[in-house]
Amino acid sequence: MAFVSDRLILFGATGDLSRRMLLPSLAALHADGLVAPDLKIIGTARSDHDDAGFREFARAALAEFLPEDRAEPAQIESFLDRLSYQTLDASKPDGFAPLASKLGTGFEGLSIFLSTAPSLFEPTIAGLAKAGLAGDKVRIGLEKPLGTDLESSRFINDAVAAVFPEDRIFRIDHYLGKETVQNLLALRFANIMFEPLWNAQHIDHVQITVSETVGLEGRVGFYDGAGALRDMVQNHMLQLLALVAMEPPAKFDATAIRDEKVKVLRNLRALGNGDSVTGQYRAGAIKGAAVPGYDEELGKDSDTETFVAIKAHIDNWRWKGVPFFLRTGKRLPERKTEIVIQLKPVPHSIFAASGAAAQPNRLIIGIQPQENIRMSVMAKVPGLDRGGIRLREVPLDISMPDAFAGPKKRIAYERLLLDLIEGDQTLFVRRDEVEAQWTWIDGIRAGWDAAALKPKGYTAGSWGPSAAVALAERDGVSWHE
Ligand code: BG6
Repeated sequence: MAFVSDRLILFGATGDLSRRMLLPSLAALHADGLVAPDLKIIGTARSDHDDAGFREFARAALAEFLPEDRAEPAQIESFLDRLSYQTLDASKPDGFAPLASKLGTGFEGLSIFLSTAPSLFEPTIAGLAKAGLAGDKVRIGLEKPLGTDLESSRFINDAVAAVFPEDRIFRIDHYLGKETVQNLLALRFANIMFEPLWNAQHIDHVQITVSETVGLEGRVGFYDGAGALRDMVQNHMLQLLALVAMEPPAKFDATAIRDEKVKVLRNLRALGNGDSVTGQYRAGAIKGAAVPGYDEELGKDSDTETFVAIKAHIDNWRWKGVPFFLRTGKRLPERKTEIVIQLKPVPHSIFAASGAAAQPNRLIIGIQPQENIRMSVMAKVPGLDRGGIRLREVPLDISMPDAFAGPKKRIAYERLLLDLIEGDQTLFVRRDEVEAQWTWIDGIRAGWDAAALKPKGYTAGSWGPSAAVALAERDGVSWHE
């Protein structure tokens, strides 16, 4: 299992993810000396390129997306030397022999990364098997989306499992590659002060917001068939929720962590009527710039949701009665991923007689773009007040970039590609997790279909439909903005 790959094949090598994330991440790892000197990267896609053409494609991608601190020209050139290319139609499993010969012989281990349409996963796996590219020393990485519901995700998982054992399957959720997401584990389990409070006795509710300012970004075909629930909640938001809610794993390893996450996912309560709100953006403005509505961007009418807010519950001992409010959307006022842990009030205020109200404490974990941990605490306002004291909420604020000045800002895929090459599954999603995620999501969609729910319009640049505010207010909660 623990072999280090010295060959990496990228399927979908000329696609958008490869251009923006995969090639820049690999070049950044190369610049930092983190990949073996003999690692060779073979790109493959339907586009007709030779090696030189692919290197030019990669050069342009790096010029645009490689972080500046890793963009030293000599390093870029030596990275490009690692690349070669094989044109391939992945829908034709009989045509994989040229790819196998491109790999050469005598390599120690192979990692394969599929960043293609999911409809190509099954023929690609079959092609790999036929061409002898699925032996013991081969790992496979799968980019999302892994299906559109439980059934289609099972189909993909079955096709992959027919050829690769689970311990060589690496399902990507790029949120798990983000430093601040991994830091959730450090915060919760490397400090004694949070865990005793981390339960229904002390926590009033949790909010998880993933807001984006972007709209469709040209992903017309894909996004309209997916919508916010499948695109963001099924994967990224449920992974965040699982990391916040899971029991302490006994150790930091792939099995222990994924065992705990899956228990949370399996115990998500099916939503009741009125526990979710969907929206779709209409024309509006983002940071002062006018933007069109979703239908207009799409070029047709659509009932796809670009916003969803959910009140979720986890039916277990720790979280009894604690709502988890999830909210995500496109064309919201700012880009922000944030987790808010709202604690309960003190059981008895000794300051009530002096008219000072103690606000309940709140822990805010900024995932992006702000990477910080803020705790609100009550403090005495300095001064010689008669007959009592005045209280005010003040923040204890840790900025991660300030606390760790020096480390580079990394693309999430750097961590994940390195782990794929080296065979560490801790930050990858196990089959039972994906299936538990889809089971819950399918239930939500079935509820929407039964109620013939249509997304409510919201103005681009606002925080979604007013019904999302009402959803939280019913529990006396305001979204943190
Ligand atoms: C992707 C979604 O998985 O995540 C996109 O398909 C979304 O719609 C993106 O924009 C958000 O990722 P990040 O890292 O920018 O928060």
